[in-house]
Amino acid sequence: MGEELLRVVNVKKRFGRVEALKGVSFNMNKGEVVGLVGDNGAGKSTLAKIIIGYLRPDEGEIYFEGKKVRWSSPLEARSAGIEMVYQDLALVDVMSVARNFFLGREPVKGKGLQLLDFKRMNEECMRTLSDIGIKIRSPHVMVSSLSGGERQAVAVARAVYFKAKLVILDEPTANLSVREALRVLELVKELKARGISSIFITHNIYHVYEVADKFVILDKGSKIAEYYKEGVTPQEIIETIKYGKPVAEVIKG
Ligand SMILES: Nc1ncnc2c1ncn2[C@@H]1O[C@H](COP(=O)(O)OP(=O)(O)OP(=O)(O)O)[C@@H](O)[C@H]1O
Ligand SMILES: [Mg+2]
Repeated sequence: MGEELLRVVNVKKRFGRVEALKGVSFNMNKGEVVGLVGDNGAGKSTLAKIIIGYLRPDEGEIYFEGKKVRWSSPLEARSAGIEMVYQDLALVDVMSVARNFFLGREPVKGKGLQLLDFKRMNEECMRTLSDIGIKIRSPHVMVSSLSGGERQAVAVARAVYFKAKLVILDEPTANLSVREALRVLELVKELKARGISSIFITHNIYHVYEVADKFVILDKGSKIAEYYKEGVTPQEIIETIKYGKPVAEVIKG
């Protein structure tokens, strides 16, 4: 039994007449990778946004490292160690890699009038990227010129540098080439090797199967199944999503 990192208890969220989450509970241990899967509109992104403090639940509780939390903003969740990597929103296009890396958390130098420590930002950003096996030409490269996979890499490196405990990746491999998607999967493994947990949201069951320890399957706002990797095949996960119920029940008829 590992040590519990996150516990989500009976979380409900409604948008007007849409019940996006109808009372979802799950937990994960430190170092685990959870694949959060389900069809379009299942509630995956809504749940992620609640965990990161971007949305507040209508009901239910979140426990992080054993303590009940009520984030008032993503900033608060971030300082507690939860980072989110969004497909497009992760980085600011018109800024360099190094600026994005430190965005909102820039090191300063000097007494009295404090100046951003650009030298340190450039060096530490490049060092962290290279630590996780990513080569980017220079810290001055504009993010707008990076590929989708490289953007994910910068966001993941940032989570590593700032010692995140939990990284949530929402569709990190969507719109990526085969090779780039594989690179992102390697990044998730790299996080795990460093003891950083992640929640991986995707429609690509084969991608998530490769990196996740367990799977939480949502359907129309409810958790319909939770499987440990040892107990399930990718095909069974796909069937659970397709039929909206666990495979065993499908087989029983
Ligand atoms: N801000 C919002 N306002 C109104 N409805 C919303 C909002 N966000 C989500 N919803 C609705 O809540 C439900 C769950 O949406 P959510 O984005 O969490 O699903 P998802 O599982 O991430 O889907 P996808 O795989 O398509 O990304 C959907 O019916 C969606 O239309
Ligand atoms: Mg989504």
